Amino acid sequence: MKNTKKWLFLVFVLVLSLSLSLAACSNTSENTSGTKKPSGGDSGEKKNFLIGMSQANLGEPWRVAMNDQIKAAADEYPELKVVFADAAQDNSKQIADVENFIQQKVDLLIISPNEAKPLTAVVKKAYDSGIPVIVLDRKVEGDAYTQYIGGDNKLIGKKAGEFVAKMLGDKGGNVVEIKGLEGATPQQERHDGFLEGISSNPNVKIIAAQNADWLKDKAITVMETMLQANKKIDVVYGHNDPAAEGAYIAAKNANREKDIKFIGIDGLPTPDGGLKAVMEGRLSATYIYPTGGKEAIESAISILEKKEKVEKTVILDTIEATKDNAEQVYKQFGGK
Ligand code: FRU
Repeated sequence: MKNTKKWLFLVFVLVLSLSLSLAACSNTSENTSGTKKPSGGDSGEKKNFLIGMSQANLGEPWRVAMNDQIKAAADEYPELKVVFADAAQDNSKQIADVENFIQQKVDLLIISPNEAKPLTAVVKKAYDSGIPVIVLDRKVEGDAYTQYIGGDNKLIGKKAGEFVAKMLGDKGGNVVEIKGLEGATPQQERHDGFLEGISSNPNVKIIAAQNADWLKDKAITVMETMLQANKKIDVVYGHNDPAAEGAYIAAKNANREKDIKFIGIDGLPTPDGGLKAVMEGRLSATYIYPTGGKEAIESAISILEKKEKVEKTVILDTIEATKDNAEQVYKQFGGK
């Protein structure tokens, strides 16, 4: 009898400890599934993604528009979080920004590089470390990135050149070129394309060319000097709308704006953008240069979520906007 009691007690203790440990086990699994791992780990597919966006600068409206478009597109995907860094036109700052994103182990990097050469190594470093990289608008050297998205700057330059060649006719005329930033790829491409575009008219001459680093204020100063040095200027070819608008201001201050035609590039559909400048008669033409912000986010989704292989290069279309179609293009791109 004594022995039976002892056995019963032992069985009771055993059952109790077994059920306690079972309960403990089920608690743990409840906890792990309750705090669902947001990303990575052995527990399955990633659900949330962190994107680092390294912007060359935010001092120009076009770049603000690019960031806005990236943000708006990413807002459609709650699983995406985008962190923005602004390099303020400083290559070393942009290198540090990308290094920082690499350390943060972002899931994808989007970069619009200030200049090609200085940014090439750090973009390669990110790419080689396994981070997919989307390069936007300005290029880097080599091909150590996942995808490049941007407008065809050579084609845009060529169209601008053809427009000028036609506008000046057989008589031809004097053109001054207000260029972008020396080491930024669109600068060279917009210049090369323009030369090709004017080549059909031997009487069109580029009499002066200088960089204004894409900035309106610098373009005013550059144009002031050009106006003083050149009695006859027929056309200003600005590598972007702020350059053309800056040149216009300088010409107006010198009372010469009516003798000169101004051409720009970007065509932002905003009250202070290039399309309005065409509609209001300050610019004779501008060329839509899409930011690629939306396309970059769509690619990010393909790469991160759908695990698709994306095209190495995506070239975005342009539109030539003159007084004939500027208003319609303005509306088409959502201008208010
Ligand atoms: C802005 C900008 C645009 C131009 C582009 C070229 O920084 O200057 O105006 O079209 O960059 O990269």
